[in-house]
Amino acid sequence: MKGYYARKVHSLLGLVPISLFLIEHAITNFAAYEGGQEGFRDAVRKLNDLPLIFFLELFAIWLPLLFHGVYGLYIAYQAQPNLGHFKTERNWRFVMQRVTGVIAFVFIIWHVYTTRFQITLGNVTHDELGGWMHDIVTQPGFFIFFLVGVIATTFHFANGVWAFLVSWGITVGPRAQRISSYVCLGLFAIVTTLFMMSLFAFRSEEFADTASVITTTLQTMIG
Ligand code: HEM
Repeated sequence: MKGYYARKVHSLLGLVPISLFLIEHAITNFAAYEGGQEGFRDAVRKLNDLPLIFFLELFAIWLPLLFHGVYGLYIAYQAQPNLGHFKTERNWRFVMQRVTGVIAFVFIIWHVYTTRFQITLGNVTHDELGGWMHDIVTQPGFFIFFLVGVIATTFHFANGVWAFLVSWGITVGPRAQRISSYVCLGLFAIVTTLFMMSLFAFRSEEFADTASVITTTLQTMIG
């Protein structure tokens, strides 16, 4: 019974606040595409000017992500390998939800270490983040890791919302579940596109001018 409640909390946190954070994050980053260096700087400033930002991050991002990630790994580890029955789409999605969860876990640890944690350490300021991102995503290995990490995370998010609606009894019949499949596919396409456009924007020359100042720090940090 204890496991039942832990699973429900895990499922609910995946939707609120984590999915909401992911959508907000995709929109903030998209400012890099839409408004370039200045637009992105303004978007980051606006967020960080929010009152009680530390507690907002702690309770709306870090703690929910930590629980969802660690308990999610436990669930993935416990799941019965069902590869013999890999034929149906649902089974395929069940397996992919676990695979993408593990990739997202590794990606997010790396990503938070190379962004938010470096701000805490004082190696980069919020205003320098655009150039900092440019330095990361112009390195081919990191760029590919970013692409894989983002796609795994957005798949995990969209398929997770679909599964949430089923497991909480919101989409019950086959028709409702089919319609929600299309809606979640649309969500996946929109959020992935927003992230991709920002990734390509950060690679552009526009973000290079501030990058040189911090390249040395980044190189020593990530070898
Ligand atoms: C194009 C893709 C992405 C870019 C360019 C990007 C960029 C950034 C940047 C610049 C920060 C530091 C923000 C700040 O401290 O003001 C950050 C933080 C963060 N990112 Fe991403 N990110 C991307 C995708 C993702 C994805 C897919 C996730 C999955 C959940 C994610 C999770 C996080 C988290 C948890 C933080 C820490 C948030 C905080 O403490 O305020 N990011 N990201």
